Amino acid sequence: MPDQHACDRTDILIREFASGDEVRLADVFYHAIHQTAAADYSPEQLAVWAPVQSDPGRWAEKMRSIQPFVAEIGGMVVGYADVQRNGYIDHFYVSPQSGRRGVGTALMDQIHQVALSNRAPQLFSSVSLTARPFFEKFGFMIDAVQQVVVDGIALRNFRMSKSLTPT
Ligand SMILES: CC(C)(COP(=O)(O)OP(=O)(O)OC[C@H]1O[C@@H](n2cnc3c(N)ncnc32)[C@H](O)[C@@H]1OP(=O)(O)O)[C@@H](O)C(=O)NCCC(=O)NCCS
Repeated sequence: MPDQHACDRTDILIREFASGDEVRLADVFYHAIHQTAAADYSPEQLAVWAPVQSDPGRWAEKMRSIQPFVAEIGGMVVGYADVQRNGYIDHFYVSPQSGRRGVGTALMDQIHQVALSNRAPQLFSSVSLTARPFFEKFGFMIDAVQQVVVDGIALRNFRMSKSLTPT
């Protein structure tokens, strides 16, 4: 019997951010946190990480500033992730309906290609408990355990990095 989670990787399209994506990316962000990351964080923590009521203008401005890559399957936005010129990954989110099908891998491959062509010395990010095994799979190591306090609620995550400099 075929693996029902299997997805032909060629179905995943990675493209640049385009004006008009903002609302769909907000949807991916919200559901990735409230469904996938719900396995590792309390309802109070999820609520401050991805509030139900967020400011659409501020969100759109954030997306335009980080210029993420967008993953699509069959014309549907299923994930997004960015990499800045210094190798910093700010956002990395995959829609729960499309989890464990290689969408994150396709975005991570794109990020590596771009960072290498930018000659970034390393990739680094603040990585959730949920995303830690995924980042470890790509060779990221934990530099520090962090405690972020948002609206008085503490969230634990990891500062993780991966050197891109040949040894
Ligand atoms: C982390 C995340 C981006 C991974 O995206 P994804 O599309 O599911 O990842 P992939 O399907 O490409 O996974 C590739 C491999 O990573 C590893 N992996 C991914 N998620 C994992 C998990 N929850 N537990 C253990 N290993 C995991 C597995 O080895 C997986 O291969 P497999 O499915 O063949 O076992 C996604 O789970 C997510 O959005 N999480 C919630 C939001 C979040 O925490 N974002 C990160 C903020 S820093």
